Amino acid sequence: MSSVTNLNKIAVIGGEGIGVEVTAQSRRILSWFAENRGTPIRLRDAEYGKVPYLRSGEVIPADTWDAIRESDAILFGASGGPETEEVPTAARNRDSLLSLRRKLDLYANVRPIYAHPELHAASPLKSRVLQGVDFIIVRELSSGIYFGEPRGIETLPDGRRRGFNTQSYTTDQVHRVARFSFELARRRRGRLCSVDKANVLETSVMWREEVTAIHRSEFPDVELSHMYVDNAAMQVVRAPSQFDVIVTCNIFGDILSDCAAVAAGSLGMLPSASFGPVDQHGRQKALYEPVHGSAPDIAGKGIANPLGSIQSLPLMLRLTLHRPDDAALLETAIAAVLAGGLRTADLVEPGKTPVSTEQMGDAVLQALAARA
Ligand code: IPM
Ligand code: MG
Repeated sequence: MSSVTNLNKIAVIGGEGIGVEVTAQSRRILSWFAENRGTPIRLRDAEYGKVPYLRSGEVIPADTWDAIRESDAILFGASGGPETEEVPTAARNRDSLLSLRRKLDLYANVRPIYAHPELHAASPLKSRVLQGVDFIIVRELSSGIYFGEPRGIETLPDGRRRGFNTQSYTTDQVHRVARFSFELARRRRGRLCSVDKANVLETSVMWREEVTAIHRSEFPDVELSHMYVDNAAMQVVRAPSQFDVIVTCNIFGDILSDCAAVAAGSLGMLPSASFGPVDQHGRQKALYEPVHGSAPDIAGKGIANPLGSIQSLPLMLRLTLHRPDDAALLETAIAAVLAGGLRTADLVEPGKTPVSTEQMGDAVLQALAARA
């Protein structure tokens, strides 16, 4: 019998916009696993964003920080949207998804791109281009231009305004995300492509040199290539099956993962997992979230695709909970639902009727129940 202390604690934070709606479906699925498969988890709901701000003055209130601190994993929905405007910049800057990534030092963001054969028709890319597309973008998530100083908007003596940000990486920041990516590539097809802009940017020159040095000294068995980011943006849509693992800096990873979403049929399909350093007890904090944002245009309508969030659960089941059989079961259930033809609005073919967020959640639960 597992005691309460053996349960993995999951902080469930829907956040803002469609984040709340899609996370509600993932939450139901996690509960299903706890009830039907004995998956050792305890869920703790926590608030984020405008709602707690209006009540407590904090985007991430004390109770949410508690839930985050005690958690083994965080299931996050989305941040931002028109709600952002109701929260003063100072409060946002103090606490936001970005500061959460930074405070937890979530440096390695894993974004798998998989073209489900059932969804080839939903992609604007040709089916032959989509054959065998299965790769991972590792985005450095806690440094780079997102956090570099100095940053700001200033008014010059002549009245013109000047906005500025700083792209910066130190060797240790490059080394740890490079090692993470080489290790991942080693467990897959053994190929790593490092994406940079070394023909122009010094940070990229240094990035490329350091990745090459780590390769030579620690991972000679992995095949390493380098690609400029402009070319990479084209290659992920022109011939995405060439990639196994891509590693890149924060902002290039942000942009490339949206480009790559075209191969998955919809941005609404993409899950992600972010990892911090391993602590002295051997624990590694992880945050699971869909790649899509708060999607204010469709928020509150119940039509968002929950599969980006739901597909982050097999990542959680494998990488935090070490339950590969549960992960495989959920992947099979999702594949069966897609094979059955159910589509949310982002994926539906013209003339066909889309299902709602909740109906998609229901369908995944039914597919699980049928296989339990
Ligand atoms: C992402 C998102 C975020 C980012 C936004 C919401 C701040 O686009 O996770 O890709 O830019 O990192
Ligand atoms: Mg993005």
